[in-house]
Amino acid sequence: MSLMIGIPREISAGEKRVATVPDVVEKLIKLGFKVAVESGAGDAANFSDEVYRAAGAEIIDGAAKLWAASDIVFKVRGPTAEEVGLMREGGTLVSFIWPAQNPELMQQLAAKKATVLAIDSLPRTLSRAQKMDALTSQAGVAGYRAVIEAANAFGRFFNGQITAAGKVPPAKVFIAGAGVAGLAAIGTAVSLGAIVRANDTRAEVADQVVSLGGEFVKVDYEEEGSGGGGYAKVMSEGFLQAQREMYAKQAKEVDIIITTALIPGKPAPRLITAEMVQSMKPGSVIVDMAAERGGNCELTEPGQAVVKHGVTIVGYTDLNSRLAKQSSTLYSTNLFRLAEELCKTKDGIADVNMEDDAIRGLTVIKEGNITWPPPAPKVSAAPPAAAKATAAAPAAKKGGHGKSSAPGSATSTTVTFLVAALMFWFVGANAPAAFLAHFTVFVLACFVGYMVVWNVTPALHTPLMSVTNAISSIIAIGALVQIGPEGWIRWLAVAGIALTAVNMFGGFAVTQRMLAMFRK
Ligand code: NAI
Repeated sequence: MSLMIGIPREISAGEKRVATVPDVVEKLIKLGFKVAVESGAGDAANFSDEVYRAAGAEIIDGAAKLWAASDIVFKVRGPTAEEVGLMREGGTLVSFIWPAQNPELMQQLAAKKATVLAIDSLPRTLSRAQKMDALTSQAGVAGYRAVIEAANAFGRFFNGQITAAGKVPPAKVFIAGAGVAGLAAIGTAVSLGAIVRANDTRAEVADQVVSLGGEFVKVDYEEEGSGGGGYAKVMSEGFLQAQREMYAKQAKEVDIIITTALIPGKPAPRLITAEMVQSMKPGSVIVDMAAERGGNCELTEPGQAVVKHGVTIVGYTDLNSRLAKQSSTLYSTNLFRLAEELCKTKDGIADVNMEDDAIRGLTVIKEGNITWPPPAPKVSAAPPAAAKATAAAPAAKKGGHGKSSAPGSATSTTVTFLVAALMFWFVGANAPAAFLAHFTVFVLACFVGYMVVWNVTPALHTPLMSVTNAISSIIAIGALVQIGPEGWIRWLAVAGIALTAVNMFGGFAVTQRMLAMFRK
């Protein structure tokens, strides 16, 4: 029997998002689920009960009835104690939970024998999990909105203009922290025409900043800021001092500062001091996205926009609710992707498969047992540490050849080659001569292809594909051969050449651009 997914109205003050939008209701029904929506749940995000009903949802009046009817509840914010009270014994909940910060909530949910999938606990480095990454989708929207808030509070254009009424210089925007929110903010500010600079402690984001049209400003101090898994680490006092000096210089020059710096599980680093605010031009704006976690700016007041020393400091903590329709649409798509993973059989039954790395990471409580924190993930996006590579090098040398050093592998390679040689001899002795020529080319092609692809790091697979795509335009030769003196075959050949030319030049151009992103 298919399960009922329930969407309650969010009750936290100021929360305007809804966990599932009407489009996604339709998709969930196609997966075999039934969907119930609490009356008014989508109102704040501009989705009326009628639209939900038209999409196939049942509209239920009142939270108590909705929770009682739902086998699975989709929510945005973690439930309050009252909401947990309404939950069915043994029910399933999917929402933001932040288990480390909310041990009490975890206990309450466990007492309900619930199964809880905390969307914030998704292993983000698994590329397969990206479609379910609500932290990323929400931070992207918030980064965009931060720029819009800044533009709203700023008294000038973002782009430079030369008009009959005078010359307007472009606004200068400085973005502190180039994570998901920071990169979205860079893209938005650039597209509005501002001059954008950004800084982050993780050196690897510099290329991303540049590719979005920003300028990466380095701190004059050598220290690696990556703490693994794509997150930052707490920096040394020496680094922070050098960073403060650089930020002080930027504060004097720029019109807008957007701060997004965060280290998971730590209070937000204090990057903008009161003196820096004082040194900014009157009318400047600071948007402190880290306000909820203590703020990157000393003078931020969480949830408020205040003017201090002539600078507007925006500390809104509800940037996603200020773009509720967009945030809800992306969030509910993340939840739909999760539903697909839970219900591969498309029969409306959810299977919380703890063997699956992504689902394992998300599941913080399974049938009343707290399963958080999960074991360390097996896969990491970070490149292998340099120290390990150097340690492995002497061992590889001992083996006499670059690739393998295990004692058994030399013998197995010899055996493989002997078997292959025997097979070749057999084919050579028995097959017709014409076949043999083609076969030799085929085997060589396989061998060269294997050697080319095998040692390429996964990050370079896309440029590799585009360059092979370009090279495959050798089929142009077929069309060239067909260009006869006249007739329709000639025009077909011309069309063929034109199409492969797009493939060829496009392939090389794309490869060139992609490789440029990896160059320091
Ligand atoms: P993220 O973890 O992707 O990015 C944070 C970035 O800050 C990282 O790139 C990190 O390397 C960098 N960083 C850490 N310490 C730094 C330092 N000392 N100097 C410079 N950079 C430093 O996080 P994400 O998802 O981009 O979120 C950014 C912030 O926005 C978080 O504080 C998050 O809570 C907040 N947020 C606020 C919302 C609101 O409504 N105000 C909504 C969504 C997110």
